[in-house]
Amino acid sequence: MSKRIAIFTSGGDCAGLNAVMRAAVLRASSLGWEVIGIENGTAGLLQDPPRYKVLNPNDFTGTVMRMGGTILGTTNSRNPFAYEMDDGSIIDRSDELIAAFKALDIESIIGIGGDGSFDILSRLVEQGGLNFVGVPKTIDNDVNMTDFAVGYDTAVSVATEALDRLQPTAASHDRVMILEVMGRDAGHIALTAGIAGGADVILIPEIPYTIEKVAEKINNLKKNGRNFALVVVSEAVNTPDGEKHEVVYHGGETRYGGIGEYLCMKIAKATGSETRATVLGHVQRGASPTYNDRLLASALGVKAVELLAEGVYGRMVAWQNGDVVDVAIEDAIKECNIVDINGMRVHTARSLGISFGD
Ligand code: F6P
Repeated sequence: MSKRIAIFTSGGDCAGLNAVMRAAVLRASSLGWEVIGIENGTAGLLQDPPRYKVLNPNDFTGTVMRMGGTILGTTNSRNPFAYEMDDGSIIDRSDELIAAFKALDIESIIGIGGDGSFDILSRLVEQGGLNFVGVPKTIDNDVNMTDFAVGYDTAVSVATEALDRLQPTAASHDRVMILEVMGRDAGHIALTAGIAGGADVILIPEIPYTIEKVAEKINNLKKNGRNFALVVVSEAVNTPDGEKHEVVYHGGETRYGGIGEYLCMKIAKATGSETRATVLGHVQRGASPTYNDRLLASALGVKAVELLAEGVYGRMVAWQNGDVVDVAIEDAIKECNIVDINGMRVHTARSLGISFGD
């Protein structure tokens, strides 16, 4: 009998999501399975009529696997346990969602998400007796138990290219350029792109800094004849006295943002240099996936289907030391994967003379 599985993307989008779907659909099709793509995260199934589509191998032969974004749509604000209705009321729609999966004859699902989505999905599948396998994706690379999450490599490439573009203009105008990158509470994007893109200063949430130390680094560069400097800062970096920089959006949702402009003023004052800030923002999420992300997405998508075929559930597929493995979802979401301040990348950066402002 042919089996039906569902796949969806959950949380913020990133490059490589369509490539995961392609891999899962091709592998499932080789087993004679049908794949249903749920639209707009799991929220698509809570709409009337439910929003989903059958995904066929032919859907992925053209440009789709090369595209950023997700052909299914996604959301990071439709928690089925606390679902915000159009009238603003918040209700628990988890039972309704489980019933919607069952009405479609779906017992096994592949969720492409981050730790927040996995936390919610684990509760849901336990409540509904559904079989679940997770595929990690996030530009922040903060999911535990995997060396890389889908989308991170592309985001780092975009941030590195931004530094490549900022350097000539910085040098032309004798300026200090500050690049604010995403990453939520983990400094992975800033650290890796900073090393790859020749930053002079990298500021990440994991390492406390002072403006004096940042200024000292920049002034030393100047003394040695350098006429520009590049500073990369993670969006979640606080001011040295612990104040957060956040933006409040319509509806009261907050996101990190603004530390770049803060540093721009402070560094100008402390060094006498002309400074400019660039906020890279969602540009980091929107690119065509790099080959590394396509490889990762393909390997993880295939493995996710194979786990379902073996009857292995409640797992997250992961990339560890060049191989694809599976780990317990609970271990993946137990804690956030932040930068190891005693790890290889911080050591490498320090050895290159890059300052962390400490
Ligand atoms: O988690 C991915 C991420 O891009 C973070 O780096 C960033 O802080 C956040 O999502 C932005 O969220 P939104 O897309 O809701 O603005």
